[in-house]
Formats: sequence, C-alpha cells, structure tokens
Amino acid sequence: EMQGGVTVVVLGASGDLATKKSFPCLYGLYKRDLLPEKVHIIGYARSKFSREQFVKKITQHIKTDSEEDKKKLDEFLKFTEYISGAYDKEEAFKDLDKNISDWEQKNKLKKGQKNRLFYMALPPSVFLSVASGLHNSTRTTEGKNRLVIEKPFGKDLESYKKLNSDLAPLFDEKEEVFRIDHYLGKEMIKDITTLRFANMLFSPLWSGYHIKSVQITLKENFGTEGRGGYFDEYGIIRDVMQNHLLQLMSVLAMERPIRRDANAIRDEKVKLLRSVKPIKMEDCLLGQYTAANDKPGYLDDETVPKGSTCPTFAALAFYINNERWDNVPFIMRAGKAMETSKVEVRIQFKALPGILFEDAPHNELVIRVQPNEAIYIKFNNKSPGFSDDCLLTELDLTYKNRYSNLQIPDAYESLLLDAMRGDRANFVRDDELEASWEIFTPLLHRIEKDKIVPEKYPYGTRGPAKLSKFMDRYGVVHTPHN
Ligand code: BG6
Repeated sequence: EMQGGVTVVVLGASGDLATKKSFPCLYGLYKRDLLPEKVHIIGYARSKFSREQFVKKITQHIKTDSEEDKKKLDEFLKFTEYISGAYDKEEAFKDLDKNISDWEQKNKLKKGQKNRLFYMALPPSVFLSVASGLHNSTRTTEGKNRLVIEKPFGKDLESYKKLNSDLAPLFDEKEEVFRIDHYLGKEMIKDITTLRFANMLFSPLWSGYHIKSVQITLKENFGTEGRGGYFDEYGIIRDVMQNHLLQLMSVLAMERPIRRDANAIRDEKVKLLRSVKPIKMEDCLLGQYTAANDKPGYLDDETVPKGSTCPTFAALAFYINNERWDNVPFIMRAGKAMETSKVEVRIQFKALPGILFEDAPHNELVIRVQPNEAIYIKFNNKSPGFSDDCLLTELDLTYKNRYSNLQIPDAYESLLLDAMRGDRANFVRDDELEASWEIFTPLLHRIEKDKIVPEKYPYGTRGPAKLSKFMDRYGVVHTPHN
C-alpha cells in the first residue's frame, strides 16, 4: 500500500496509448475517488505543447456526460501538467525530478511518502534511454519508485532476455517493475480464478477427464489501419497471442494457487507455461486479409512493406503436458479484419458416456470477455410440454442483465490502481514472460525462416477457408457461434 502522496509521470504523453488509455483512465479513477488525496500527474513528451494543446490532446477521448463530470474533469486538470523534454538528456530528467520534488515539498510530504509512478507509454526504441534517465536522475529515496511498462517486451526469447538484463540494474524486478498485459485487467479474465476455484460446480470438471477442447478466440472487425508499420514487424502472434491470449490460457489452465497472492498465482502460471509443449508447424494456420466490401487489404496499407507475408490471422493448437490436460487441445485464434469483434473462451465438454440420449449436443461453458460480458452454459433440457425431445438451452449470466448499476472498469483503470497500491497479481513476472517466449520462439523463427505464406481471407470474414478443416482436426464441435 502506498503511504502519502504520489506523482504519476506518463512518459510518451502525446502518443496513442497515453491519450486513449492512460489519461482517460487516470481521470476515470479520479472521478470515482480512487486516486490518493495527494496526487500529481505529469505528462511528459518531446513535443513543445502549450497548456491548451496538451489539455486538448489528453481530453479528446474523455467523455463528460454531465455537469458533474465536467466539474470533475476541471479539478483533474488542475493537478495535471505537461512537461516537454528529451528522452536522452540527463538535464531533462533532472528538471523533471526538480518539478516533482517541488510539488512534494509544497505538499509537505514526509520521508516515505514521496512516491513516484513512471508510466512508460513509449515505443521500444527510446525505452532504455528513458528508463536509465529516470534511474539516474528522477528516482526518489524517500518513497516508492514504480515503473509501469508495456509490450513489446522483445520479439523473441533472446531479445526479451537482452531487454530484461538491460533493465534489471535500473529498476528492481521484485519491488519496482510492473509489466502490463492489459488483458489481465479485464473483468471477465479476472473472474476466471473465482469461477474455477470458488465453485464445486466447476472445479471437479476442469480437466481432460471431462473437457474435450478449449477455444480461446479474439476477433476484431477492423484491420491494421494506420498501424501497419508497427504491426508488420510483429504480426498477429506477437501482437496478441504470445501475451494477451497466452495469459488468458494460463489463468484458465493453471493449478490451484496455494494462496490468492501475487506470487502464489504467478508461480502456478509459470508452472503451467513450462508445461506447454512446443507448437508444431502443423498445428498452426496463418492468414492475411485481402480487400473486400470496399475495405482495403492488408497489403494496401501504405505503411506495410510490399509483398509482406506478415500474418494478420492465426489459429494455433496447444497441448499441455500434465495430468489435468493430457491430450486436450487448446485452440487459440486471433484475427484482424474479421466478421465481428469479440473475445471469448469456449470450453466444450465430452459427450456423456452411454447412449440414453443419442446425439445430445455437448455441454459448453462460454466466457464472453467482450463485448457484453457474460458467462453461459449450454446444457440439454427436456423440451417443455408434451414432447420428450432433448433440447439444447442456456443458463445465461449476462452481466448487464444480472447486475444493476453495473460498472465494469476499463482494464487500464483496474491495473493503474493496482500499480499504485503495489498489487502485482495482475502484472506479468519476468519468468512468466520468459516461459511465454520459450513456447513461441521456435514457431516464430520457423515461420520467418521458411517464409511461410499466409492463406488469404477477405476482409470481414471468418478467416482462411482452411480454418474449418483445421478445427475439425481437434474434434471441435461446430456450433453456429464459434
Ligand atoms: C493490443 C494490440 O495490445 O491489444 C492491438 O496491439 C489489439 O492490436 C488490442 O487491437 C486489443 O485489445 P482490446 O482491449 O481492444 O481487446
């Protein structure tokens, strides 16, 4: 827990992440009275903005629906300021330090109360020079220093290790580094631990004895529009699978942690990740979208290199080498420019042994992460009335119908608050990331070395035509929704 006051410095304040997420979420926390009483927010970037330009920039994605909101936003802006400075000059970081110290002094913060949270909303190219500038000139010795960092954490195992060993002397892994994977801040992903470990109804069924397959799916109905430059260097696997979806998978599949604290949970996740078998090339289907329905293809994006073979879609099957999951395929799918936007987990159960109800559909448990958060179970019921037919129906927990005044925080709100409070349960530890890269690196290198050409799929569709056969191979039962 943080004692006293806090200065939050958002580095890269004029970038996409800062304007779309960091500032709106800091404001969101303030609006709900969740920020500490003594708080100071600094946007830091290279551009020379006037106060007016800065305010315009950071409020462009903030909605203020009522007079009350507008008043709150004005208050928020009173303790939020902009500093323009270099990313590679000691002087600049000393000035930043001076600014923070002045505020700490003005607010009569005592030793132990002068906390600093550095949020790096920065591209990897300037990452280390900023971290070292902060280390040399902007750290406090009279409170906590916390460094919040975002992907990309390298591009493969080797570059990840390099990045980590460069960072290690600057900020302490155990006390100071907070690696964000924003999927861990999503309500439904946080709920998985409760669902699994607080319910007799699910806990005994959670294994290959009862489960036939697990699908983890992320679809987006938009392309890389404008982000082609970044995306082409990474591809869909590094963009959302090695991190977001693998984190989701590790929460779904891990053994029961001995306690609900950060290290106990992350110990289990690491153990799980280390049990994942290397992905075989035949368990990988790649796609790339083409122009359709007036929408441009991936290669039409001017920021994308000509003839790029970067995948914008991938389906991967994982197997986990432990007793719980022996032979159960975890099928991960992610794609840009698809027919819809949604993130969901679909767990298909085995058929009940015996044939009293022939052809009864399989049970399914679906966790819909977004949009419209829900958990629902598909089960067989007697068709009500004179018929004895067996009918597939749903037990449906759609959040907005069940919980009145539902307020689901943005993932970044939830994680920023955790970082301020020092709760690391939903941040990624170094050994987790290392294990994640170990799973993906051989596959990624193989794809790149062999220049595997992705299958084309038209913008706005369900992915490559080969997908359906791919899913069949893992015994996935087709339903209208998967
Ligand atoms: C980001 C990826 O990390 O996650 C994006 O870089 C992707 O390409 C995004 O669109 C998805 O996050 P969300 O919260 O919108 O599902």
